[in-house]
Amino acid sequence: MKALVISQLGGPDVLEVRQVADPALAAGQELVQVEAGGLNFADTMAMQGGYPGTPKPPLVAGREFCGIRLSDGERVMGYAQWGAFAEKVAASTALLWPVQKEWSSEEGAAFPVNYFTAYLAYWKAGLLEPIQGGATRSVLIHAVAGGVGTAAVQIGKLLGIEMYGTSSSEEKLERVKTLGLQHGIDYKQRDYEDAIKEMTRGDGVDAVFEMLGGEHTNKSARCLRDFGRVIVYGTATGKPSVVDTRLLYAKGTSVHGLWLTYLSANRGLMNQAWQQLSAWMAQGYLHPVIGHAFPLEQASDAYRLLLEGKSFGKVVLQVT
Ligand SMILES: NC(=O)c1ccc[n+]([C@@H]2O[C@H](COP(=O)([O-])OP(=O)(O)OC[C@H]3O[C@@H](n4cnc5c(N)ncnc54)[C@H](OP(=O)(O)O)[C@@H]3O)[C@@H](O)[C@H]2O)c1
Repeated sequence: MKALVISQLGGPDVLEVRQVADPALAAGQELVQVEAGGLNFADTMAMQGGYPGTPKPPLVAGREFCGIRLSDGERVMGYAQWGAFAEKVAASTALLWPVQKEWSSEEGAAFPVNYFTAYLAYWKAGLLEPIQGGATRSVLIHAVAGGVGTAAVQIGKLLGIEMYGTSSSEEKLERVKTLGLQHGIDYKQRDYEDAIKEMTRGDGVDAVFEMLGGEHTNKSARCLRDFGRVIVYGTATGKPSVVDTRLLYAKGTSVHGLWLTYLSANRGLMNQAWQQLSAWMAQGYLHPVIGHAFPLEQASDAYRLLLEGKSFGKVVLQVT
């Protein structure tokens, strides 16, 4: 079968479309004929050798996909750790979900990682349930114009949350506002910590979705109000998060970790998330935002776009 292979660790030039053997099925897995794959920041890290648990190359790339389940012909979308950017993937049955009928395979491939991660971020932040008295809660979403970011905006709108979001460009922010983002912060033009202070009149936000790492974790903690939570789920800067616990004492705040790879093994949690996400999906509230689609043969360009921070919404690969 045709597959996108990480031939060795390195930049996008190490990616090669090659013929490889069909995948072998392990217990609890089944075969899916892949039509499209969703590209994630984690794929760029796996290519460069920075993603925990990834086997050594050569390795078939890709962690989410949409296609036809061979056992029953149903259209499914799914989540894996690698092997998804190929004509066939051996996928865990527990991590396959039916695709909304009217969605394209690109839209299906853009769903699992972004929407489960965004939903679980609200869960970790304690923002899924309304609070007594009905006060409005608020969140600062970094990389709000990206894959997880645009999913978080759609979910935040449904939860009635006041959303602030950062991006490197006004143009991207204007596009996210059409999804429901109320407050955009162009971090190239102004410091986001100052902006949050000013926009919330010194109060701060209830949660920050933080995927930058380095000093941004402390900076994000300084954007919190009393008892707020930073949800750390990435290190796009390439630097490990720095946390000064004295900042946390000051306002009774906390920092939480979120890793879908780990949480996806928790059946109860994933089922709870799917119940809510699928209900919203069926009601027409969730629409994966596809910014860019590339044929598999141009995967290097797709990875480059994501690495350079030039993408909007989700980047997808057309496999067949
Ligand atoms: N823990 C988990 O389970 C989990 C799951 C999914 C994703 N993630 C993490 O969430 C983050 C977003 O992932 P995604 O796949 O949805 O990607 P994405 O947000 O679609 O793309 C990354 C965006 O991050 C922004 N960015 C800021 N600093 C950057 C930098 N130094 N290098 C590159 N981009 C930078 C850019 O947007 P602007 O130009 O607008 O700033 C860029 O478009 C990544 O850090 C990823 O590892 C974690």
